Amino acid sequence: MASRAPVLVTRKIPGRGVELLRREVGDVDVNPRDRPFTPEELAAEVAGRRGVLCLLSDRIDGHILAAAADCQIFANYAVGYDNIDVAKATRRGILVANTPGVLTDATADISWALIMSVARRIIEGDTLVRSGRWTGWKPAELLGADLVGQTLGIVGAGRIGAAVAMRSRGWGMNVLYCDEVRNHKLEAELGATRVEFDVLIRQSDFISVHVPLTEETRGMFGAEQFRAMKESAILVNTSRGLVIDEVALVEALRTGEIAGAGLDTYANEPRVAPGLAELDNAVLLPHLGSATIRTRGKMSEVAAEAIITALRGGLPPNAVNPEAREYRGK
Ligand code: DGY
Repeated sequence: MASRAPVLVTRKIPGRGVELLRREVGDVDVNPRDRPFTPEELAAEVAGRRGVLCLLSDRIDGHILAAAADCQIFANYAVGYDNIDVAKATRRGILVANTPGVLTDATADISWALIMSVARRIIEGDTLVRSGRWTGWKPAELLGADLVGQTLGIVGAGRIGAAVAMRSRGWGMNVLYCDEVRNHKLEAELGATRVEFDVLIRQSDFISVHVPLTEETRGMFGAEQFRAMKESAILVNTSRGLVIDEVALVEALRTGEIAGAGLDTYANEPRVAPGLAELDNAVLLPHLGSATIRTRGKMSEVAAEAIITALRGGLPPNAVNPEAREYRGK
């Protein structure tokens, strides 16, 4: 194959990432189309590259990794990296990196935007005003839920979950959390209580989900969990759509088993489960968790720096599989 740019960026991204790569590594090819590569295009594009900056919408499976025989690193433009088969990348000696830290605040903010939107029926109100059907102030129009003094349940108290919890101070909420690891800071600063998942879903008024997608978390919210939740409960998810059984969620929202849901991510993006878009008690965002100008810019720098470090023989601090280096050349 004719020699090609050492680095591939699978879609145009904001910020200085591509500029950094060009300055520090050399030539960079950026997908010129305003859509992700198809799997066939991606397999052809990764061949002969030393580094790939990919997106959460790219499925980096065994086939793509096999086609990327010369590649040392896939840097994902996201903190979640469930779109990459990390075990296979490791066995091929390929590092995988993500963008932790820089999107924590933006994602925590969007979780709160969803909590507030569902609780105070913001979208329904906006729709009513725009429709021209609003007839003026009414004592019982679009009544919502209070936040002050209510119980907030955080499922997954890592960086983003903890930032969501900390923001609840403004509403004086009682915070429960579940996580494999104890979060001493949340306990000390917020008086948060670590509980089992089934206790959290029974006792919380608002539940905000912040777990990575793994075999353990896939479908962790299903019909049984919705039955266990309060009828007044509001569920918000900014992690990964597959953590929730969307068909069961539609049913729970339709029958009033739970009061509302705010979603930023979906099992099969960009498609949403049948019936979801017709429900007034669901607020649906198009995966905007990290979508601020500053955050998306920082993400591009963090991903680019990981590639620069790896191509210079170093270990990026955000590599999720540092052990991959032991397999290099085997
Ligand atoms: C992530 O980084 O994983 C987010 O979902 C992107 O918005």
